[in-house]
Amino acid sequence: MSRLGVNIDHIATLREARKIDYPDPFLALDILHRLKVEQVTCHLREDRRHIKDHDLRRIIQVQLLPVNMEMAATEEMTEIALSLKPHTSTLVPEKREEITTEGGLDCIGQFNTLNKYIELLKKSGIRVSLFIDPDLDQIKGAIDLGVPAIELHTGIYCEVFGTDRQEAEFSRLQTAARYAYQKGLKVFAGHGLNRVNLPSVVQIGEIEEYNIGHSIIARSIFVGLAEAVKEIQKILK
Ligand code: PXP
Repeated sequence: MSRLGVNIDHIATLREARKIDYPDPFLALDILHRLKVEQVTCHLREDRRHIKDHDLRRIIQVQLLPVNMEMAATEEMTEIALSLKPHTSTLVPEKREEITTEGGLDCIGQFNTLNKYIELLKKSGIRVSLFIDPDLDQIKGAIDLGVPAIELHTGIYCEVFGTDRQEAEFSRLQTAARYAYQKGLKVFAGHGLNRVNLPSVVQIGEIEEYNIGHSIIARSIFVGLAEAVKEIQKILK
């Protein structure tokens, strides 16, 4: 069975729609822990549009679940990670104006910047994963950066799912996952995954962990968080 990381950012998105104090993403932890979800994922964005510093601090300090902190490769975010010590830091590209993370990191063009922050994170014992497109050159770049893990961006696959581009994108994902796995990287995947498109992706056995957020939180409006998570866990079995 592949591991599941549930991204709880969008519980905070709902809270921030009113700038009040509920729903509290922290309260999801008990439910995820009870369901034996392997990890909780949070993206502390530079504009703090959903998860805030105090959310992340409480979520890490309670130590109920390993925390995967998605973060931009910046001085500010690295300092926060070094002080809070999440289990994993997943470096993601970030633009303020984007609705969600668009595209993966550029491991080649941004090599020096990434290398600087990766070294600091690794030295403090944080596992580093890089969010990249399913592209062999980017995987080679990630290998050169000396990280143990990558997360393949499934956004394009999810976007073209059900169209005549699905097969080509699936094959890109599969080739990338196999190549990275053979090169000794841990292979994770995420972005845009849901109950409909996930069953096809799980055929790629080299992917050992999925980070899924928006579709689980959206589904939980109708069936509750526990049931929404269980539906995904069934697919990952
Ligand atoms: N993985 C990474 C690196 C992400 O940036 C995101 C979005 O924050 C996700 C996974 C989860 O994507 P989604 O919310 O579309 O499931």
